[in-house]
Amino acid sequence: MAIRIDYRWMVPPLAAAQVESYRGLAASVHGGLAARRKAGSLPFYDLPRQDVPAIERFAAERQGSFDDLVVLGIGGSSLGLLAVNAALRTPFPRLEPAPRLTVLDNIDPLRVSSLLGALDPRRTLLNVITKSGDTAETMSTFLVFRKWLTDSLGERPARERIVVTTDAAKGALRKIASDEDLAAFTVPDGVGGRFSVLTPVGLLPAALLGIDIRGLLAGAASMDRRLASPDLMENPALLGAVLHRIGYDEGRRISVMFAYADQLYLLADWYRQLWAESLGKRRRLDGTERPVGPTPVKALGVTDQHSQVQLYRDGPDDKIYTFLTVDRFAAAVPIPAVGEAAGLDAVAYLGGHSLEELLAAEERATEAALFLAGRPVARIAFPEVSPQSVGEYFHLMEATTVAAGALFGIDPLDQPGVEAGKQYAYGLMGRQGFAEMRRELESLAPGDERFLFTGSE
Ligand code: PA5
Repeated sequence: MAIRIDYRWMVPPLAAAQVESYRGLAASVHGGLAARRKAGSLPFYDLPRQDVPAIERFAAERQGSFDDLVVLGIGGSSLGLLAVNAALRTPFPRLEPAPRLTVLDNIDPLRVSSLLGALDPRRTLLNVITKSGDTAETMSTFLVFRKWLTDSLGERPARERIVVTTDAAKGALRKIASDEDLAAFTVPDGVGGRFSVLTPVGLLPAALLGIDIRGLLAGAASMDRRLASPDLMENPALLGAVLHRIGYDEGRRISVMFAYADQLYLLADWYRQLWAESLGKRRRLDGTERPVGPTPVKALGVTDQHSQVQLYRDGPDDKIYTFLTVDRFAAAVPIPAVGEAAGLDAVAYLGGHSLEELLAAEERATEAALFLAGRPVARIAFPEVSPQSVGEYFHLMEATTVAAGALFGIDPLDQPGVEAGKQYAYGLMGRQGFAEMRRELESLAPGDERFLFTGSE
């Protein structure tokens, strides 16, 4: 059974006539994207049909040889895998089956040294993932881990515990991998980090963890078939993009992804990066400087009902809500009856129901409360959380994002703002060729002293 995409409670509040007015533009956006896909400039669309025997072979060879898989990567090189692992193995690190996954997507020294102190180098497999092969965070932790492995095991055995995923030719990591004869996989050309979960970036570690990667790809392929029509009303990616565009123009510039299952929460986190980094742009395709970008927010049901929903329902009408729900959970937890004791009416009604029922009721109630307050609400319903449904979701959201990029008149595939931050950091750390960036930062005025509180007398 396929995931259901339900936009009925978006229209109204958004006007049906407005949606209709986008029919022509949506068809031409679809045509433009299809032409670029055919020309090979949007290769993410075709990832669902790739062959994966090399990944499966490597995973089979390494099976049983490690207790800990440590992935070094950041942004598009880590968030997809984290989402897949939480959805398809467990969202609870404490309950994770062997082998354990640790994704080191931060360089917090306490996190890194605590992890090194807890790992056994003889039972650790390291997957270093960076498309550019140069990212300072990933490469610095790689250097730390490589030394740790080499010091503990010696050079050759250390090399056998490393596999890298990077560009076919460019970047420092590719060079190191060739020089040191490390096992290596390639991020296909033209697939950017946040669109790369269905490349070896996500698929290799997923396969090493025993996840059904063919199921993920089959789900994405079936969603691709559902997105073939240029007709707005028959293509949920086009319609989702149009609804967000209309909402944005009316001032609903925040997009809340509300996951009603712990397993789905990191899918919302993955979406947060995809939407923010793809659509937050200063320049439009026509060359004008007109900053644009909806702000994605993730929320967890029911937890955030007691944290965010007051704002969502009664605060400014500046948000669009997408609920992620599950029809059939993999576990059933009945709620025991409380007996006949007097004065317990406030809990007696719960007995005989289940946590799944309560969760579904709370989700439905929250959706309805928002809709009744005039807020646009969409729902993506997973029949169950499976490799197929997760693959469908990835492809749907990626296709919606590039369609939204076309409607906003921006390039969803670049990230000049992220690159600028990387370059300033290179400058500060003394990388050759980036001295100008360092000078620019050092020449910044410190600002008005009256606004600084140091705590000194
Ligand atoms: O989506 C993107 O392009 C970024 O988030 C990158 O994935 C992130 O900056 C990491 O880059 P790299 O994979 O080159 O290390």
